[in-house]
Amino acid sequence: MFSHLTAPTLDPIISLSAAFREDPRAEKVDLGIGVYKNSSGETPIMQAILQAQDIVAKTQKSKSYVGLAGCEEFNQCMVDLVLGDTPVRDRLSVIQTPGASGALRMLADLMHFAQPETTVWLTDPSYVNHKPIMEAAGLKVKFYSYFSQKTKMVNADRMLADLAHAGPKDVVVVHGCCHNPTGADIDFSAWQAITELAQKNGFMPFVDIAYQGFGDGLQEDAKGIRYMAERVEEMLITTSCSKNFGLYRERTGAAMVLGKNATEATNARGKLLTLARTTYTMPPDHGAALVKTVLQSDSLTIIWKNELVEMQQRLLSLRKSLCNQLRNQHNTSQFDFIESHKGMFTMLGLTAEQMLRLREDFGIYGVADSRINIAGLTEKDIPYVADAIMKVL
Ligand code: LMR
Repeated sequence: MFSHLTAPTLDPIISLSAAFREDPRAEKVDLGIGVYKNSSGETPIMQAILQAQDIVAKTQKSKSYVGLAGCEEFNQCMVDLVLGDTPVRDRLSVIQTPGASGALRMLADLMHFAQPETTVWLTDPSYVNHKPIMEAAGLKVKFYSYFSQKTKMVNADRMLADLAHAGPKDVVVVHGCCHNPTGADIDFSAWQAITELAQKNGFMPFVDIAYQGFGDGLQEDAKGIRYMAERVEEMLITTSCSKNFGLYRERTGAAMVLGKNATEATNARGKLLTLARTTYTMPPDHGAALVKTVLQSDSLTIIWKNELVEMQQRLLSLRKSLCNQLRNQHNTSQFDFIESHKGMFTMLGLTAEQMLRLREDFGIYGVADSRINIAGLTEKDIPYVADAIMKVL
């Protein structure tokens, strides 16, 4: 059965983590996978989650099955968090999923079932797992212009010119905030323009919001998605608690479908549940139980929000320090764009060879497309990393 299989192509992010773990050098720095680290280089469990864990341990009475859609209270918490009071609940359905990757795959399978000829448009570049997931579900993938290598910001004119060609059989993936991998976000006027194009040309927006709270704050980061949701007929949404609740390994996420009306949203949910049943039956409960416990408690919510703001502020300060170091010690303003980027990532604009040199000569692990995870830096790494970047240039 397996004799014809060739060696698999390794995932560019997951394989980097494995290589980093095996690297014996003491000075190595992991700027690969999107995981937040504190000033000691650790990824601790958030205080709000630790307290929720105690509550769940004391109050949970059973480990019996929950249901195909996961925890319904968690699902409503996710809708509250992402969409706030956007008046769309009467035509919205939601299911809990194993992380945002699980949500992406469930919605990709749903699109393929409902409209097999769908083409999914992704930002150029996009999250490394977007294309493989869409293609694994049998969908066609196209890229639209997004990032300008010259300015290191979004080229909105080119983006909108490309999206003007997307039509009724197309789905356009938009990153809700903190674009992965570039760190360059669209501004509110671009959200308005994409919304208008969706209304005019009939394509369906698909918003992947995996980093809410890491850009400009929980509410600010959701401004675009909320504006769009209120105005388009149909929309898909994926969200994740990996980053903003630090629940990475608990695989806690959600998939939402905004339909033209309640019946369509309910039928889409029904199909999602069948897809879940034939894929993993139901999502793991632990992470969702913790998030629900936090968000249903006023005091835990305050603790969680404060911790999230602390992480977001730390990212801003790391960005500033790295820029300052490059500017003051190396006399270059070439990397000033790092401070304008949002969230965990920044695309440096180095070549794959330069990224390889960073890794081989300095033990600094970033993705080959030159994405670095700012949240992987500690203050003491900054002079070393800035120095290495200048040496490989
Ligand atoms: C990342 O982009 O590094 C994270 O979202 C982890 C992943 O699943 O790829």
